[in-house]
Amino acid sequence: MADQDRNRRVVIIGSDHAGFEAKSHVTDYLGRMGYSVLDLGTHSPESVDYPDFGVAVAKALPKHKDATGIVICGTGIGVSIAANKVAGARAALCTSPYHAEMARRHNNANILALGARTTTFEEMDAILDVWFATEFEGGRHQRRVDKIHSLTQK
Ligand code: RB5
Repeated sequence: MADQDRNRRVVIIGSDHAGFEAKSHVTDYLGRMGYSVLDLGTHSPESVDYPDFGVAVAKALPKHKDATGIVICGTGIGVSIAANKVAGARAALCTSPYHAEMARRHNNANILALGARTTTFEEMDAILDVWFATEFEGGRHQRRVDKIHSLTQK
């Protein structure tokens, strides 16, 4: 297996307390599919602050080239806002398989944000299946992604 393919099977995941149960579900689901999941917490249902986990996942991502990040909070909104403050992060909140497809094809999103209070486990599985099956199209979309990153201070 090429390094790139191997790394694409590495997933770095984090959630706040609202996403704690969903994180376990997603971790188990991806484990059964052969992914290697690095769990950055939270590790209990006790109340925590979602930015800590969105940022932790986004900061860990460049250490594992081509890995995927997954961040989960109640709505997916807070963790995605927080993750996108980190240079290089392209976090996309997905509530349907179509969002996941477009986030990968057009935005080359490298972090999937999920809402534990808005999305069922079954819907999450469908979103994950599409996310991992979909490649970035490049071309004009690369130019647009580059424009986004030109706004971020390293
Ligand atoms: C926690 O109650 C909730 O605010 C958080 O999980 C998330 O939905 C924030 O965007």
